[in-house]
Amino acid sequence: MTHFSEKLTNWYAQNKRDLPWRNTRDPYRIWLSEIILQQTRVDQGTAYYLKFEEAFPTVVDLARADNEKVMKLWQGLGYYSRARNLHTAAKTITDVHKGDFPRSHKQILELKGVGEYTAAAIASFAFGQPYAVVDGNVYRVISRVFGIKTPIDSSQGKKEFNEIAASLLDKKDPGTHNQAIMEFGALYCKPASPDCNSCIFNNVCHAYRNNEVQTLPVKEKKTKIRSRFFNYLVLQKKEQIIIRKRRGNDIWTNLYDFPLIETSSELEEEEFFTSTQWKELSGQLDFKFSKVSPPYKHILSHQHIFAKFWLIEPKGSLKKIAPAASVIVNVSDLTKYAVPRLIERYLQDASLI
Ligand code: ADE
Repeated sequence: MTHFSEKLTNWYAQNKRDLPWRNTRDPYRIWLSEIILQQTRVDQGTAYYLKFEEAFPTVVDLARADNEKVMKLWQGLGYYSRARNLHTAAKTITDVHKGDFPRSHKQILELKGVGEYTAAAIASFAFGQPYAVVDGNVYRVISRVFGIKTPIDSSQGKKEFNEIAASLLDKKDPGTHNQAIMEFGALYCKPASPDCNSCIFNNVCHAYRNNEVQTLPVKEKKTKIRSRFFNYLVLQKKEQIIIRKRRGNDIWTNLYDFPLIETSSELEEEEFFTSTQWKELSGQLDFKFSKVSPPYKHILSHQHIFAKFWLIEPKGSLKKIAPAASVIVNVSDLTKYAVPRLIERYLQDASLI
């Protein structure tokens, strides 16, 4: 065992949080927790993990579930491709692997939605195999302690950090070592305000000794943020309302929202009703425009969405104007559908749910 790993795992034994997926070696539960935790904080993720574990105690239960139910349970967690891939992979495990979670690193890596990080986590936590995890926490700890300045989002950086992580790994108990380095990154070596004063590595940490804690790790590219302007058409008549299931490979695939006109800037009322998109969509529609919501801002990792909801009551039947791929539902049934958080906020504000 390396000196680094010994210090780290001793620290972990005394400081680790008691989290539900740490009390199991069931690869299904470990996989589930890792997919949930990929882009989600532990305090938010834990509730979802417990819900999924209860609804689907085995991978076969998850595979056999209706996709609508899986998406509904995932509602609010974001990055919904995780839920779709989780469901697809559960079917692969059930059909191809006969319900037995694969043990080989190669087969684990072939599961939909499982990348290098998740495969290493499952292989080491569930099966004790010597694969080092490299996630955001690990990049941070290694770059700071060892003073590695290669950008973490470059191919050279990935290679270098992977090699260092592998060389530090405790081959006798890789699972505990991997949990420990991530826990250390999450609790001590935090991005903005790490607890350097009480850190177990502060006497050797390159970044601490050279006042580089704030500049490490180095990233090559700045995340580009795109602004998008959504004009949602809330087509409602008495208790009936039109929603539609999102398709394609934009955000929120398989979730429900409303028919949408996307524009390159925010539109005021007059601009909206004279826009070509509205004219094309509404055709000869006879309608009553009730009101427009204030703008809603919804922040995603690479997009800022500015949404307005245009409440429109058609004079004729909803059926005639329902755009392709949309469905007419009763307002009282809206809670049954998985919707993005943005839509949920609007539905709550409009007292529709
Ligand atoms: N983040 C990702 N995986 C984790 C785990 N197993 N425990 C705590 N936080 C995590």
